[in-house]
Amino acid sequence: MKFTSAALPVLLLGLSSAVSTAAASFTPPATFKNANLVHVVSAEKNYIKETINVLVENIAKTPQDEYYLAIPTDKFDRVGGFEVKDRKDSAAGEFVAEAVEADPSSATQYFRIRLPKALDAGAQQTLGITYYVLSAYRPLPALISQDDKQYLVYDFSAYVPSAYETTKQKTEVKFPTSDVPDYTKLPNKELSQKQGSKITYGPFDTQPAGALLPVEVRFEFTKPVNHVQRLERDVEVSHWGGNVAFEERYALVNRGANLSTLFNRVKWAQSAYYNPASPALKEMRFPLRPGSADAYYTDVIGNVSTSRFRSGKREALLEIKPRYPVFGGWTFPFTIGWNADAGTFLRRLTQSGSYVLNVPFLEGPKQLEGVEYEQVRLQILLPEGAENVKFSAAIPSSSVETSEVSVHKTFLDTVGRTAVVIEARNLVDEFRDREVIVTYDYSLVASLRKPIVIFSSVLGLFVAAYLIGTVELKFSKK
Ligand SMILES: *[C@@H]1O[C@H](CO)[C@@H](O)[C@H](O)[C@H]1NC(C)=O
Ligand SMILES: *[C@@H]1O[C@H](CO)[C@@H](O)[C@H](O)[C@H]1NC(C)=O
Repeated sequence: MKFTSAALPVLLLGLSSAVSTAAASFTPPATFKNANLVHVVSAEKNYIKETINVLVENIAKTPQDEYYLAIPTDKFDRVGGFEVKDRKDSAAGEFVAEAVEADPSSATQYFRIRLPKALDAGAQQTLGITYYVLSAYRPLPALISQDDKQYLVYDFSAYVPSAYETTKQKTEVKFPTSDVPDYTKLPNKELSQKQGSKITYGPFDTQPAGALLPVEVRFEFTKPVNHVQRLERDVEVSHWGGNVAFEERYALVNRGANLSTLFNRVKWAQSAYYNPASPALKEMRFPLRPGSADAYYTDVIGNVSTSRFRSGKREALLEIKPRYPVFGGWTFPFTIGWNADAGTFLRRLTQSGSYVLNVPFLEGPKQLEGVEYEQVRLQILLPEGAENVKFSAAIPSSSVETSEVSVHKTFLDTVGRTAVVIEARNLVDEFRDREVIVTYDYSLVASLRKPIVIFSSVLGLFVAAYLIGTVELKFSKK
């Protein structure tokens, strides 16, 4: 991850380097033991959310401040939103965690978690670790007809992959419904039990570091598997217009089962009357900040009229429908945009002209089935002449790929506009509304620059028109 000097001070506020390199074939030192561990795998949304609550014990002779979490290499690139807290001490805040780039040919990779205070020899601490796995499922069957139920498969280890010995552990898997036709059953029936929409593996007794127990589950998910390959979100701040303009460009694909037969529009229209569960994406709902206005929605063809926008004092909601239902394997590229009053997001800190801007990092759709984001690029365009720019984003640092302050020139700009650009990957809709805070100085001279430029260019136009007018006058007199 790169930082410009302008962004450096904010580093202390939250962001830190995402990836560091370690020696090839790296194995964490055996300084800890997992005394008790509860692993929850939620398959309720169209991404996996993993929660690991673990009582860790320092079994070394000296204080330790680095704990490693193992992730299988085949999932590592699809893991994001990695966050760690102390389960017993919420005041300790978010722990710094970073991906350790070890030997790519190794079967296991690691996240390094820095404990804010070194743990004494023999002492224990309860860590609450959460992260998400994107592109987690494969549909089975891979092809279905348009009114079939959809089933998804997920593979994982019933022993949590660990760099340390684990004395006691269990894994709970949660599904959207109790329709789970297949799951790995262990020889000892007690250790794999299904209850409604939940399966519990374990409790298991002591397992050595690196122990794995591969299992597979297959469950009903007759909902779209919304995967945003890339979101480009532009936020343009105008002091002069008292406006903040938002535009979002989505490249979305449904990762669900492909159609086994050609799409039948008549059959679709008939079934629409009953509104059955469907693996196709039919509608998206974007809750926006109150007071949002001028919403638009376009796709590759142009303006789409099948959208509804309501904006009131307490809430605003944009509802959009694709032109056709988006089935598995189909893509849905679209753009939405809206305006908001600058007062909603912007505050002046000092008379001399220091400002603070607070905008959500993501504001994407809120869908019952969830939305995952492979790549997100947020660009915040500040007014021309903004200086001394600092920023901080409340998203996990290991999900940030690059962040920088750059200069962006557009029509009628004299010195160019300063932009804050943050590229992040592997996020999910649970990070909606995480804040990005930008502070900057913007002086009266800078605020007058644009009107002066506009005025002088308009003046130039008048002069030109006047000259042309005179010429024409001469001609017309002829
Ligand atoms: C697109 O729709 C918006 C609002 O629905 C309208 O104001 C605009 O004129 C339309 N643009 C075109 C090119 O049809
Ligand atoms: C599903 O459709 C996508 C896009 O057309 C294609 O790339 C993929 O191979 C298909 N999958 C199967 C299992 O047919």
